[in-house]
Amino acid sequence: MAKSATPPPTRAEAEKRAEELRDRIEHHNHRYHVLDDPEITDAEYDALERELEAIEARWPDLRTPDSPTLRVGAPPRDELGTVAHESPMLSLQAVQERAELEHFWRSCAKELGHTPALVAEPKFDGVSVELVYDRGRLTIAATRGDGYTGENVTDNVRTIAELPLRLRNPGELPEHLVIRGEVYMRKDDFDRFNERQRARGAKTFANPRNAAAGSLRQLDSGITAERPLKIFVWAIAPASSHRPATHWEALSLLSRAGFRLNPEVERFEAGDTERAAAWYERLKESRDELPYEIDGCVFKVDAFADQDALGTRAATPRWAVAWKFPPRQVTTTVRRIYASVGRTGALTPCAEVEPVRVGGVEVANVSLHNQDEVDRKDLREGDAVVIERAGDVIPHVVGSLPERRTGRERPYKLPERCPACGSDVIRPQGEAIARCVNASCPAQLKQKVIHFASKHALDVDGLGEKLVEQLVDTGLVTDLADLFDLRHDQLVGLERLAEKSAQNLIDALERSRRHVTLTRLIYGLGIPHVGRALAGELAAAFGSIDALLDAEQSELLQVEGMGPVVAASLERWAADEHNRGLVERLKARGLDPREAAPAAAGGPLEGLSLVVTGRLATMTREEAQEAIQRAGGRVTGSVSANTAYLVAGADPGTSKMRGAERHGVEVLDESAFLELIGRA
Ligand code: IVH
Repeated sequence: MAKSATPPPTRAEAEKRAEELRDRIEHHNHRYHVLDDPEITDAEYDALERELEAIEARWPDLRTPDSPTLRVGAPPRDELGTVAHESPMLSLQAVQERAELEHFWRSCAKELGHTPALVAEPKFDGVSVELVYDRGRLTIAATRGDGYTGENVTDNVRTIAELPLRLRNPGELPEHLVIRGEVYMRKDDFDRFNERQRARGAKTFANPRNAAAGSLRQLDSGITAERPLKIFVWAIAPASSHRPATHWEALSLLSRAGFRLNPEVERFEAGDTERAAAWYERLKESRDELPYEIDGCVFKVDAFADQDALGTRAATPRWAVAWKFPPRQVTTTVRRIYASVGRTGALTPCAEVEPVRVGGVEVANVSLHNQDEVDRKDLREGDAVVIERAGDVIPHVVGSLPERRTGRERPYKLPERCPACGSDVIRPQGEAIARCVNASCPAQLKQKVIHFASKHALDVDGLGEKLVEQLVDTGLVTDLADLFDLRHDQLVGLERLAEKSAQNLIDALERSRRHVTLTRLIYGLGIPHVGRALAGELAAAFGSIDALLDAEQSELLQVEGMGPVVAASLERWAADEHNRGLVERLKARGLDPREAAPAAAGGPLEGLSLVVTGRLATMTREEAQEAIQRAGGRVTGSVSANTAYLVAGADPGTSKMRGAERHGVEVLDESAFLELIGRA
């Protein structure tokens, strides 16, 4: 192969060979990038490219604009230049809910005199571009710009490896073909790219869309060539010399022409809003599992004749709508940064922001984790910041927008004294976390009480944050055990606590006291590093709080999920006199639950791991987990090859169901599960 890098002797021969090479390279490019099914090795592919480069170097005028050798980038420009779109690139009207989609569909039907079929596809969160192919060759690529004129990004778009520069099956394509699509960066590519930028001290990006936009608008396409850009095409524009009858056919035409199409498309016949809405929901649920960002669904009238008949408004077509997902990234302003004291005394810098809705919840306070994070992101009071909440994840600050600064923003440093008790704050060398040294700091106690009363611990109804503050501030509660000494007459004196709610609280405490399981108690004590799953393991292994506190390091290490760091943390906690005293005081108030650990052995689920998903009709998720543990089984958070059963209630999580399929894990419905644990 290497010898073929010598150009052929005559210009005429070279011209013929260059054409042949371009076709072959394009073919193998398609096999590799679009079909994921290469026919030749990388080395063989490189040899073809080298041979073409050698010819083009010898006869530069033989280099065509669609030559794959240009994928590495063209010489830098002073400016990108502009391109007028032959037909405007419109935006989409938004719908918020199913009823609005229905309304859209009905009004199309009314206008057309028949109910049209719709095609649904994801709304890709990238940068939209127009691609012009003349006689099957890419001639121009432009950004959307203001919809009428965009920037000429041809050199840059050419570097996108999976984009065909010459099309397959040209015979069935219009001579003049205008395509639209979305340039994007995959999430994993984006993470790696940002990591690389950070390591080099270069600019990082807030999200894949910004990274794609920044990469696409480079004046030096050699830089674009190094960025992991990809493209999904989503339309054949009316400016093309002809189009097939429907959008659906247009998509398959594009696929045959060599483009990689997004697989998530669906066609809905006349008025089937039920399925269309279900499709939207499914896509919304699987959003986090897709390797690229999408921000909604687009519903388009399928037949181009119908699209043309419906026409457009000033900036949006009448034949399509976008049903967006709740936004997951929003911009807001930091009002102030403050230190919050956690239950272990850790001081966490938090941002109070102008309240915004993101990912379906209202956010007013966001943890900034630690001082290093504040410094690394250079977050200041008064900054405009991007906040993100993806999936079920806690909202976090992606970064600030320094370009919006006015000069009045103030950098932040954690205080040297605890904002709650005034004691010293220390940050041991090499640690990220600063802590208040005072073990009886009221702020710590408040957080301890809140955790102790929380849903997965003692689950005390009606013991909210405001009330905890009062209980601690008035001195009624100085440790967790004091909760169970509270009297009605002490409570009614508190702000916003009427006779009735005072009694309700006392009743709730009594209920929790009597029903607490060992797992919940261990978790509720807030021992550092001991989460719910580990608390369950510990309860099963030791059976009582005393046995746990007396356990040797070697015994602790035998517990599933326990490592040396956690074992040491537990031992330290157990050795502390305060903590011992607290446990004694709790026991004196009747909180000494036993987990019949040996009974679990020999239970129907002995040695098995189960995962629970969805809503069960006869018990809460919590109760199901406890039942599994009582039957000797273990509950884990995600499905793996070690999972024995996935218990699925109503509306099960997609990832767990898929995991079960992948690993061949048996899925039990509620009645099968009840039968298994002997409750049927
Ligand atoms: S069709 C006439 N389909 O959304 C407009 N647009 O808000 C027809 N977009 O600028 C647009 N994915 O950049 C269409 N599957 C998709 C899309 C999509 C993303 C973008 C596009 C457009 C914007 C409109």
